Amino acid sequence: MHAPGHGIRIEGLRKRYGEGSTAVDALKDVNMQVAPGEVVGLIGPSGSGKSTLLKCLGAVIEPTAGRMILGEQTIYDNDWTMPDLRALRRDRIGFVFQAPYLIPFLNVTDNVALLPMLAGQKNAVARARARELLAALDVAHRAEAQPSELSGGEQQRVAIARALANQPPVILADEPTAPLDSERALAVMRILNQMAAQYRTAIIVVTHDEKIIPTFRRIYHIRDGQTHEEVGEGRAIDLAPLPA
Ligand SMILES: Nc1ncnc2c1ncn2[C@@H]1O[C@H](COP(=O)(O)OP(=O)(O)O)[C@@H](O)[C@H]1O
Ligand SMILES: [Mg+2]
Repeated sequence: MHAPGHGIRIEGLRKRYGEGSTAVDALKDVNMQVAPGEVVGLIGPSGSGKSTLLKCLGAVIEPTAGRMILGEQTIYDNDWTMPDLRALRRDRIGFVFQAPYLIPFLNVTDNVALLPMLAGQKNAVARARARELLAALDVAHRAEAQPSELSGGEQQRVAIARALANQPPVILADEPTAPLDSERALAVMRILNQMAAQYRTAIIVVTHDEKIIPTFRRIYHIRDGQTHEEVGEGRAIDLAPLPA
């Protein structure tokens, strides 16, 4: 279906918490593949394993078994784990949360440029990259502002720019639209779809938000630690101007 070695792929992923009679098998044989440029939904009831799966995908916790391949790099292969997951998280995985979590004492450009700088980019290169992303997200005019001077929608777009800053092969978005009204929620999904296409990023969106579920072309439902793939409506998101 996809060119192998790109996007993100997991095979036979399992995660057991604890041992013996109190062990919990939070993930049982999860298989998932997201291509570059694709945005998929991950949906499931409370306790189904969403957070555990997101933490494994984000290299925050190690699975008990299974494989994960990110871009062309094997991250886990059963008992083997690549060295330096911390650098992997910082340089190769973008995270978007419900709240923007911008650093209040850095201006907008430096909020976006910080991760590439930490990854070893020259400051001028990191700032140029930040400005390009801010322009792509229609917040270039706020480049010198402090986060507190921005509207909520602008802050969210800066947070998306930050997630893209190191050109990660994957972005993990955890309930990115939960507090937003319908128009803003769809605007965020439109942005994520545009950015996925433009930067060839695979994006996984964990959500309960009924407003955005019709936008996904593909959805992984997770129930009791197992995923089931489903074709979504893939409804085009209209190109109304972004709300501030
Ligand atoms: N650190 C942990 N230790 C033991 N069990 C856990 C831990 N984290 C989650 N679980 C259990 O794993 C299962 C999946 O939890 P979780 O991944 O948080 O689901 P969701 O995010 O879908 O609500 C649940 O039964 C939960 O109680
Ligand atoms: Mg959870």
